[in-house]
Amino acid sequence: MKVLVANHPLITHKLTVLRDKQTNSQVFRHLVEELVTLLAYEATREVKIHPVEIETPVTKTKGALLSTPRPVVVPILRAGLGMLEGMMRVIPSADVGFLGMVRDEKTLKASTYANRLPEDLSGRQCYVLDPMLATGGTLVSAMNYLIERGAQDITAIALLSAPEGIKAVEEAFAQSSFPITVVTGALDERLNEHGYIVPGLGDAGDRLYGVV
Ligand code: URA
Repeated sequence: MKVLVANHPLITHKLTVLRDKQTNSQVFRHLVEELVTLLAYEATREVKIHPVEIETPVTKTKGALLSTPRPVVVPILRAGLGMLEGMMRVIPSADVGFLGMVRDEKTLKASTYANRLPEDLSGRQCYVLDPMLATGGTLVSAMNYLIERGAQDITAIALLSAPEGIKAVEEAFAQSSFPITVVTGALDERLNEHGYIVPGLGDAGDRLYGVV
């Protein structure tokens, strides 16, 4: 598994404003979109393209276009939805599949409550969007779901990650040669006893959409 911690002053700046508890939902949503756009640039480095020949107003030249089948972007509901717009800005022709996952606040185990994904993901590159890689349980379940359906490779994009979450994903796929990449804006210190990332930013879903 490849882990890429984006190290860029603009990302650090935006994450700092995002973490601040004074930042309201409107600004928070806007910053999440901007951050995803920056992280997507790294995350799509290996997206499949094929060579084409085109004609500019000046001359013929060679270029490359995104290949088919198109990549599939998979936001994990609810908080991953806040990342979708930023991702689609970078790769607008991608398909979108949805996975609704909730974690039990006591056991911290993830379960699927909704799924709107193509049954067959053969040959599809998948980009999973989940802002917080905390225990890793949700991401491991989501990845297994996509692998079972034939995904070609999976890249997860997380705004923040905990070392425990990275370790859990690494361990879950340690015996597998399946290509997995995690791109994250920052690697935080740890998880607290409630499964929150420290220093983190609190509950990403609540900060995006308010408490329901
Ligand atoms: N989910 C969140 O929204 N925040 C955390 O800190 C951990 C998981």
